[in-house]
Amino acid sequence: MDKITVPSLMDRKARSEKITALTAYDYPTARLIDEAGVDVILVGDSLGMVVLGRSSTLPVTLEEMLHHTKAVTAGVKRALVVADMPFGTYHTSQEKALENAVRFLKEAAAEAVKVEGGERRQRLIRKLVDAEIPVMGHVGLTPQSLHRLGGYKVQGKTREAARALVSDALAVEAAGAFAVVLECIPLEVAQEITGRLGIPTIGIGAGPHCDGQILVTHDLLGLSFNSHPKFVRKYADLASTMGGAFRRYAEDVRGGHFPTAEESYHYAFQPQVVRK
Ligand code: KIV
Repeated sequence: MDKITVPSLMDRKARSEKITALTAYDYPTARLIDEAGVDVILVGDSLGMVVLGRSSTLPVTLEEMLHHTKAVTAGVKRALVVADMPFGTYHTSQEKALENAVRFLKEAAAEAVKVEGGERRQRLIRKLVDAEIPVMGHVGLTPQSLHRLGGYKVQGKTREAARALVSDALAVEAAGAFAVVLECIPLEVAQEITGRLGIPTIGIGAGPHCDGQILVTHDLLGLSFNSHPKFVRKYADLASTMGGAFRRYAEDVRGGHFPTAEESYHYAFQPQVVRK
């Protein structure tokens, strides 16, 4: 299968071929997702919640994101790797934002960055794209706006809010983004946006009409401890599988059943020789 690039991803929309995307934060998971043929791997700042045990994405730092992005790119051959810019790394000044975005491509081998926000990010997106940094937008429920939004709530439910979302998505496209994530919005609004945009929409909790879908991998694997929104489909129950394995191991050690002689190395001589 050919390497996924920014232009080849954009071509998918014209060919009406669905785009598949998942998050990853480490080498083995990224490698397995890539080998499964998923098109886009997002090193999401959901890292903070599903891997680092924090209660929101807000405390995630640039250094943490770079560290995990390096691990992901080490495991990926085909998928397009997009790194999420964490809260505070693109909000204080355009120059700082550009410097931070450059680090993802230069130090961590990401191929694009993602920033949250619509119209208010238009200038920033243009600046990054002018500096040869492909940008994925993200509108709707933007978790970094948690406190302004008053919680993780479905967005775009009123006529005015839906219109504002359409404007946000159009602004992101006009600024030069190559794709946009639509998070937690009514499927009718996502369908309208998808129809009006020339760039692909990647939905999460945005219904079936988006050009592609993304999920947080730990949710899909049943490996997250957060409450699951209704748009998550669990394809595995890794929490039970892992918990069971850890319990059996502990029982085996306590009961003297692990390791066995077959699982041990053997000295070539008689024990008396060792004592000499
Ligand atoms: O951080 C993340 O995982 C994301 C996805 C939910 C799109 O932004």
